[in-house]
Amino acid sequence: MNLKGKVAIVTGSGRGIGRVIALKLAEAGSSVVVNDIGESAKELAREINNIGRKGRAVLGDVSCTSDVAKIAETTIKTYGRIDILVNNAGINRDQLLVRMTDEDWDRVINIDLKSVFLCTRAVLRSMIKQRWGRIISIASIVGLIGNAGQANYASAKAGIIGFTRSIAREVASRGITANALAPGFIDTEMTQKLPENRRRELISRIPCGRLGSPEDVASAVCFLASNEASYITGQVLTIDGGMT
Ligand SMILES: NC(=O)c1ccc[n+]([C@@H]2O[C@H](COP(=O)([O-])OP(=O)(O)OC[C@H]3O[C@@H](n4cnc5c(N)ncnc54)[C@H](O)[C@@H]3O)[C@@H](O)[C@H]2O)c1
Repeated sequence: MNLKGKVAIVTGSGRGIGRVIALKLAEAGSSVVVNDIGESAKELAREINNIGRKGRAVLGDVSCTSDVAKIAETTIKTYGRIDILVNNAGINRDQLLVRMTDEDWDRVINIDLKSVFLCTRAVLRSMIKQRWGRIISIASIVGLIGNAGQANYASAKAGIIGFTRSIAREVASRGITANALAPGFIDTEMTQKLPENRRRELISRIPCGRLGSPEDVASAVCFLASNEASYITGQVLTIDGGMT
């Protein structure tokens, strides 16, 4: 995919899937704003500069309106435009519903869902002005099929899908597409927390016989971000090795 001249923001890209998405977008030619709450964002921005692309770290919490405004403003000040937004930042606080606290619910809804609203709203004006844009949000198969112990996470991820389908309709005539990805189980710190027997049981339910890699997700992001995907919008692309 050729993304030369494009400018991307990838939220929560200090590690895991977001990190690989940011690197792949940069390899394809895009300048990348690396957002995270952690200092790891700075290291990744340096790595992007080292491969001869432009990278800039902007630390901030994507569930906070003023931090999100700072991310969008810094991107415009640094690169003059915003072409691609990847809503990747996310957390889980798993608990059976009877034990789930208000805080477990609110944190996951705020970081996984409200952030998608805040970040998309913050970039849309510049995309509308330039009549080109790509909004790509990382949902989950859990938002499609549910998962015991993840009512908060599943609700946030299902919310991302409804949000994506709605804004796709709002902005399609302006050359902006909005799509969601629904990864299955991807090998990152989020899934490395699972006990070994649970991991083995999961893999036995995946027709491809392995967990997904962050590269599997990043490749789909690069395609959806490209000109080649301009007629694909409002879709949910499942990346789960055939699991669902
Ligand atoms: N790993 C999986 O199996 C899997 C499956 C489906 C969907 N996903 C989704 O993919 C995305 C990335 O997951 P991952 O496995 O790489 O997770 P991860 O925990 O490895 O990385 C998430 C990153 O988001 C950052 N982050 C957390 N809260 C933030 C905030 N408020 N503001 C900015 N950054 C914040 C973290 O610091 C971290 O760097 C998440 O949305 C997750 O729900 C993951």
